[in-house]
Amino acid sequence: MRVRKAVIPAAGLGTRMLPITKSMPKEMLPIVDRPVIHYVVEEAIRAGIDDILIITGKGKRAIEDYFDRSFELEYYLREKGKVDELKQIEEIGEMVDIYYVRQKKPLGLGDAILHAEKHVNGEPFAVLLGDDIIISQNPAIGQLMEVAGRRDAAVIGVEEVPFELVGRYGIVDGEEVEDGLYRIRALVEKPSPEEAPSNIAIIGRYVLTPDVFDALKETSPGKGGEIQLTDALGALLKGREMFAKRITGKRYDVGSKAGFIRANIEISLTREDLREEVARYLTKQR
Ligand code: G1P
Repeated sequence: MRVRKAVIPAAGLGTRMLPITKSMPKEMLPIVDRPVIHYVVEEAIRAGIDDILIITGKGKRAIEDYFDRSFELEYYLREKGKVDELKQIEEIGEMVDIYYVRQKKPLGLGDAILHAEKHVNGEPFAVLLGDDIIISQNPAIGQLMEVAGRRDAAVIGVEEVPFELVGRYGIVDGEEVEDGLYRIRALVEKPSPEEAPSNIAIIGRYVLTPDVFDALKETSPGKGGEIQLTDALGALLKGREMFAKRITGKRYDVGSKAGFIRANIEISLTREDLREEVARYLTKQR
């Protein structure tokens, strides 16, 4: 199986980050000097994906403007001789082919993914959720693409989380078939710690096969009254194998306030232009 296309759902309301998300898409919040979605798109490109569909919604125009060319800004920077800035801006405008489709009602992740059916056009595809930024030498989605190719099956990215946090995630019941690779037996969306079959949590990376669209159409609203992707994938398990792969890398839940702050501090410490100043400041605070 070869994966060429990626889908990035970006229609969510960002209620965990209110009030800023009242007038600003959560995907555009800055991690140092780039919006969250820049890191997600970059991860997909690094894994060899050359076609990206972003599912947007109301109030998300800033995302399209960000990835578009900006001729006025480019002209201004050229006039002023700001060569480095100009190069950076031009590169963003040329990163990859990005397409957009709009989800008209916020009916949840499963419904957002259904909006990708036409674009995906019968091919296997990657899904990257913008709440998770994963920093890794080997891009997280590429790690799943490798297993999907080898096993010819859908693969979900997972990470072990503390038991008291299982209620925030889709949880996997699986049999470990290789180090860090599970054959999935069942999936449960946001169980209580008592109901949870394990603490192996779905983090926002998936390689899916196009039969998920029919499964989604038959899925009734689940947790939170929304069409849940986890429920549709659970239904597909009846017919065939599906895997969960423990992802290697550092994950930041940038959809939460504490995770967003941690990502900003730690990612700034990996930047040559900022490391020294930020580290000096942090040392002084202790
Ligand atoms: C979604 C999925 C959930 C997954 C999570 C990862 O939930 O429904 O299964 O564990 O993303 O971030 P959300 O966080 O959108 O409520």
